[in-house]
Formats: sequence, C-alpha cells, structure tokens
Amino acid sequence: MARRKIIAGNWKMNMTPSEAVELVNTLKPLVANEEVDVVFCVPAIDIVPVVEAVKGSNIQVGAENMYFEEKGAYTGEISPNMLVDAGVKYVILGHSERREYFGETNEDINKKMHKAFEHGLVPIMCCGETLEQREQGVTMDFIRQQVKVGFQGITAEQAKEAVIAYEPIWAIGTGKTATTEQAQEVCKAIRACIAEVYDEATAEAIRIQYGGSVNAATAPDLFAQADIDGGLVGGAALKPDFGKIVNYK
Ligand code: G3P
Repeated sequence: MARRKIIAGNWKMNMTPSEAVELVNTLKPLVANEEVDVVFCVPAIDIVPVVEAVKGSNIQVGAENMYFEEKGAYTGEISPNMLVDAGVKYVILGHSERREYFGETNEDINKKMHKAFEHGLVPIMCCGETLEQREQGVTMDFIRQQVKVGFQGITAEQAKEAVIAYEPIWAIGTGKTATTEQAQEVCKAIRACIAEVYDEATAEAIRIQYGGSVNAATAPDLFAQADIDGGLVGGAALKPDFGKIVNYK
C-alpha cells in the first residue's frame, strides 16, 4: 500500500495574525498539489484567521501544541475541543522545543495523544535525538522509548492514522540536514518499532516524516526514501520555497 505523503509546515512562534493571512495568500497557489497532504501548523492565535484564509484550498490546518484537559483552570492553555471547534485537523505533539523549554515528558505527550484521538485530531508526534546521544550511539534506544511511551494504550487502528515526525535535534534550525541515509535509517527503525509494538499492517500504514533543516534542495532525496513519508518543515515553511518542497518531484 502506498502511503500518501504529508508535508507540514511548523511555523513555530512566527507570524502575527495579519502576517499569517498574508503568508497563506502567498503560499496558497504555490502549494496547490493535490497528490500530497499539505498542512500548516500555526501559532494558536493564528488558527482562526488561517482556517478562514485556507478555505477552498487543499491546505489543512494544524496546531503546534495543546493541553490534555478539556476545560478548566489551566491559564494559558488550549484544549483539543477548542482546536476542533476552530477547524483544526492536525496537532504537533512533543516537539523537541516543547520538551526542552517547557519540560514536556513522554508521559505528558502520551496523555495528549489519547486526547487528540478522542477528539478526532491527527497527532504529529515528534521524536529525535541530541547530537550527544547520536555520538554516544544511543539514538535508537532513546527514540524507541519516546515512541513506545508516546503510543502507550493507543490502539492499532488509531496508530495507523497517526504521523510520527523524526527530527534529530542537531538538525533543527541549524542548516545541517541529516543525510538521506541517516534519516532513512532512523525512520525505518521507527517503523520496525511500530511493527514490534503493534503489527506489520500498522507499521505499513503509519506515516513517518523527517524534519530538520528541510529545504527545496534536500526534500526530493529525503522524500524518495522508502520509509520517509514527507516532512515537517520549520524555517523553509515561511517562505515561497515551501511551494517547491510540496512539489518536490
Ligand atoms: O518542526 C520543524 C522543525 O523543528 C525543523 O525546523 O527550521 O530546521 O526546518 P527547521
């Protein structure tokens, strides 16, 4: 079964609401590729205007994070049902920046995974090693732990719909893309881990992205790898270059 590619932009903490609408209008004609899933993951405050701005296009909207409770005294947080009501379809969970700066643990991310599925949101669960871990040769031990805990209690049917983004931390925002071999090797190992936790059918269905300094030049080779089903793109998603990444062939 051929998996449909998913190419998502992670805007991070960039773009005011008015800038966001302007960027959507610039990118809309450039990313009009019906052969892949195109997702713009945007800051919470941009969600409502971006959902409005993408209407009638092939672009789907994602959030960059959410909380695992539905309502109540959690000042500053945003809930899964708020995202759904606003028209969001995807949610990035466990980005390395959330883990590093906001102390998110694998267990927190697992709770968010459950909530995402409960509300019909598709999680894009991030994992990836530091340079130190790569040098110590513990990359896969670390990532397997992130994946296993992140997916704890998630059914095979749900896992088939999920997206995993492999983002080596040393490649994020550094201009240093992992080589296609490095990226493929880890994405293949992640798929093997899913086969171990679930079964072959689930491993075949789940989509695994690569993220970390993806640009128009590196995208074609990366996305041609057997276990890489698209990308999670940071910096280059804010530029017209994102159109080239989406039309990588
Ligand atoms: O989530 C995307 C990401 O962390 C990669 O960022 O700027 O290296 O493409 P960038």
